[in-house]
Amino acid sequence: MSAAKSSLFCLALPYFCFVLVLCDKYVPVRVEIETNEGGVPPKMFTADELAKYDASDPELPIYLALKGVVFDVTSGKRFYGKESDYNILVGKDASKAHALWSLEEKDLTHDLTGLTDKQLEGLDEVYEKTYKPKYPVVGYMDYLIKQQEDDIQKRFKNEL
Ligand code: HEM
Repeated sequence: MSAAKSSLFCLALPYFCFVLVLCDKYVPVRVEIETNEGGVPPKMFTADELAKYDASDPELPIYLALKGVVFDVTSGKRFYGKESDYNILVGKDASKAHALWSLEEKDLTHDLTGLTDKQLEGLDEVYEKTYKPKYPVVGYMDYLIKQQEDDIQKRFKNEL
């Protein structure tokens, strides 16, 4: 390689590495809103509605939301029941707590603002590998539906 070519290569290499790092940004798993088995339409939950299913009423199933998807975790009662370790996670969408692997009150929210790629990847891992294969989906949170509607509007306006 000539001296000119090799200095061009040396100059371009850091640029390509920079572009590669940027391209490597983690893209969170997109939730697909689906109809339940047997063609049953999915149910939309508000935070207040979901709060009823926090295992305090033994007559009701136990629900937990992750990434705006509401799962029936009644079969995991030993984890989520009234006196169980993870009871604090039910009746709400505590996606942030799952991303941070935390059970602290301040992390019991669906707001993922400011989380790192690694934390978002961790959340997707527990969503894909623990909840999706293990528990049936019973509905979706209102804010997830609103967010997806907004995304569709933006796509039509070519803003996304
Ligand atoms: C010292 C800390 C912890 C220990 C020793 C621990 C232990 C465990 C064990 C042994 C299981 C598997 C139980 C089984 O499949 O039989 C489990 C599941 C689980 N843990 Fe933890 N854990 C800890 C902290 C946390 C924290 C901070 C979170 C926060 C979100 C968390 C969330 C979960 C979840 C979501 C499951 C899956 C439950 C299910 O299958 O429905 N854990 N944990």
